Amino acid sequence: MSAKTSTRIRALEFYSGIGAFAQAAQSFDVEILTAFDQSQAANQVYAQNYSHKPSSRNLDSISLDAIPDADLWWLSPPCTPYSRRGEQKDIGDARAKSFLRLIELMVAKKPSLIFIENVEGFLNSKMYAHLCQTLTQCRYTISSIKLCPTMFGIPMQRPRIFVVATLRQTIDLVAPAKPSKRQALEQFVDYSLNDTESGRYLLLPEEYVKKHEAVLNVIDLNQISDADVNAICFTSGYYRCRKASGSLLRLGSGRLRFFSPQEILALLRFAPSFSLSDLELPICYRLVGNSVDVRAIDYLLSSVVQRKLE
Ligand SMILES: C[S@@+](CC[C@H](N)C(=O)[O-])C[C@H]1O[C@@H](n2cnc3c(N)ncnc32)[C@H](O)[C@@H]1O
Repeated sequence: MSAKTSTRIRALEFYSGIGAFAQAAQSFDVEILTAFDQSQAANQVYAQNYSHKPSSRNLDSISLDAIPDADLWWLSPPCTPYSRRGEQKDIGDARAKSFLRLIELMVAKKPSLIFIENVEGFLNSKMYAHLCQTLTQCRYTISSIKLCPTMFGIPMQRPRIFVVATLRQTIDLVAPAKPSKRQALEQFVDYSLNDTESGRYLLLPEEYVKKHEAVLNVIDLNQISDADVNAICFTSGYYRCRKASGSLLRLGSGRLRFFSPQEILALLRFAPSFSLSDLELPICYRLVGNSVDVRAIDYLLSSVVQRKLE
């Protein structure tokens, strides 16, 4: 945007999950009018942490009347249609239907700002081509940027593409300046969980480790203070499919443990007070692995709106 706005931005948060966008929005004059997600578990967590409860309607066939007028639309649609792990069915994937519907509604509602988050493969997809063609016809300017927590000095890989579409304005999407200081993984590790008794629920079965160790991404406890050690991306499948779906920690005892959902939330820059309710562990991992790096959203918002108390 040529100039940052100091007026309140009214936003809609689509595919809200546990609310990474709502988390970032707290630092800005951004009012979330409605959030949308069909996951009951995600909505339970969202409602507990923010002052409003998302609409649980399915976005596949959402009607125009259900969408309030807003300045900014935030979308983080399911990435499986465009990810290497999925079958890359792209626009033909049933999970892409809601996104197609929202593109139709963008044309009808014309919000002045649209932010979309997805995996890197999205940029080569038919869906992205369709989005660009449709929005360009409506006179939007479209740009994209790849952001990763490592670019903010955080020891975790999670490269994601952020597409920004603007009407009547342009935003200069520049890569963040190199951070002066890099945080080490030890700053995110809860040492009390390294005790095999208190962190027992996070331990991997020894039989499993013996069989699959070669394909696991393991970080030794004595490496976590090293400045160049990064955790790999924690995905929603971390707890059930451990191969390349997130790093594991090798304790002094030699046992491997999962990073806890709260440790992953801290790496994503959720507040320490953020609560995952009393949901079961596999559900917590799914919700956290589906979420978004709050710093990246913060970075995008700071290019369009003034930070509170700035
Ligand atoms: C990649 S996750 C987004 C996570 C979220 N941005 C966060 O901060 O945690 C995709 C979300 O979209 C929701 N979703 C997928 N398809 C949907 C649909 N057709 N209607 C409504 N929600 C949908 C899922 O329940 C999931 O929470």
